[in-house]
Amino acid sequence: MKKYSIISLVSALVLFCISFTNENLRSIYSRPPAEWPKPFVDDGVQWKELGMLPESPVEKYKDSLMHIIKLGKTLFFDTRLSGSGKISCATCHQPELNWTDAKEKSIGHEGAINKRNSPTIQNSWFYNRLFWDGRSADLQDQAFAPINSETEMHSEMPDVIRKLRKVNGYKELFKKAFGDEKIDPDRLTEAIAVFEKTIVSRKSRFDEFLEGSKKALTNSEIRGLHLFRTKAKCMNCHSGPLLTDNLFHNSGFSGTDEGYYKITHLEEDRGKFKTPSLRDVMKTGPWMHDGKQNNMLQIIEKFNTGDMPVGKDKLIQPLGLTKREKTDLLAFLQAISAPPLEFQKPVLPD
Ligand code: HEC
Ligand code: HEC
Repeated sequence: MKKYSIISLVSALVLFCISFTNENLRSIYSRPPAEWPKPFVDDGVQWKELGMLPESPVEKYKDSLMHIIKLGKTLFFDTRLSGSGKISCATCHQPELNWTDAKEKSIGHEGAINKRNSPTIQNSWFYNRLFWDGRSADLQDQAFAPINSETEMHSEMPDVIRKLRKVNGYKELFKKAFGDEKIDPDRLTEAIAVFEKTIVSRKSRFDEFLEGSKKALTNSEIRGLHLFRTKAKCMNCHSGPLLTDNLFHNSGFSGTDEGYYKITHLEEDRGKFKTPSLRDVMKTGPWMHDGKQNNMLQIIEKFNTGDMPVGKDKLIQPLGLTKREKTDLLAFLQAISAPPLEFQKPVLPD
């Protein structure tokens, strides 16, 4: 009897080990995410399982918000919001570049160079705080900032409002959106914020795989998915369907930027930045708050050695990934990246 139970234990173990090889990884990950192997996350980390691309909450009300969305979209593309009349929000958040500008640092008013890299605005409805350092509480509050910023649109809100009031077409657009022709900063920023909440990622091959298209991912991508959740420990910070914990960390890429410290003035927050969603990440380079990284394998290698300047988060440790494992991880990042949707730009009113 005892002998039998040892034999069955050993065979269960052998089966378990075999199950982690290629074909079996595929069958394991073909099950619903709730049945996937437990991820490697450190004690105390609040994590959520990866999953299907979520809908923005605005999606539900999209029809009733049609006019306000149209107004926000128009404003987003209108260079009259800038002091020079040459720059719009879309200058640095371009739909065809997954809503980034593909530059290390953004170029704004009269060629002024920004301090940081322009993040995508896709899925920004999800963040608890906006900007790399979290200095803005929500999208409406955020929209004030670039208009006034000297290195971005270099304008003043009262000037913008005055200019827009002179545009007849805007009277109509504001009336349709808000019920009357009044144009004020609150309505302007609200419309932009509602529009931005409609900007989401497109379904990636990872989503197709989760929906049941078992051929949507290659073996290497599935190995990458498994590594992302286990040995590479990315789930310590990039978890949930949007692959962000919505928190701030010092990932070791901070350079001299104080980041979140500027907002909280807590020593422990020095060099921390918002964990960005990794949806479409292969389309949103160059990467990190300073745009200094333009090679994804090098980023993976940095996480792998864990060899970063002091101050980095204790959740980052040397990983010991092999060359193939690094390539697999990169392949998974490809699988969660989709090209942008065809986007119809608005006609600007006279
Ligand atoms: C000159 C380039 C430029 C212009 C113009 C610009 N932005 Fe940005 N945007 C940036 C940069 C750079 C950041 C990151 C700044 C930071 O985090 O400190 C940013 C951050 C953001 C974020 C935060 C995203 C996140 O994940 O936290 C949103 C939302 C946004 N911009 C929307 C807008 C809107 C709306 C406008 C127009 C009113 C606009 N931007 C105009 C460059 C620009
Ligand atoms: C301790 C938390 C933490 C862990 C663990 C972590 N990241 Fe990040 N990640 C961040 C933060 C914070 C940033 C933004 C840092 C910055 O801009 O300086 C970031 C940025 C990135 C970026 C750049 C995204 C962009 O839009 O610029 C990539 C790519 C990335 N991480 C991939 C990974 C991978 C792959 C792993 C696993 C090997 C991983 N991360 C592990 C917190 C983490």
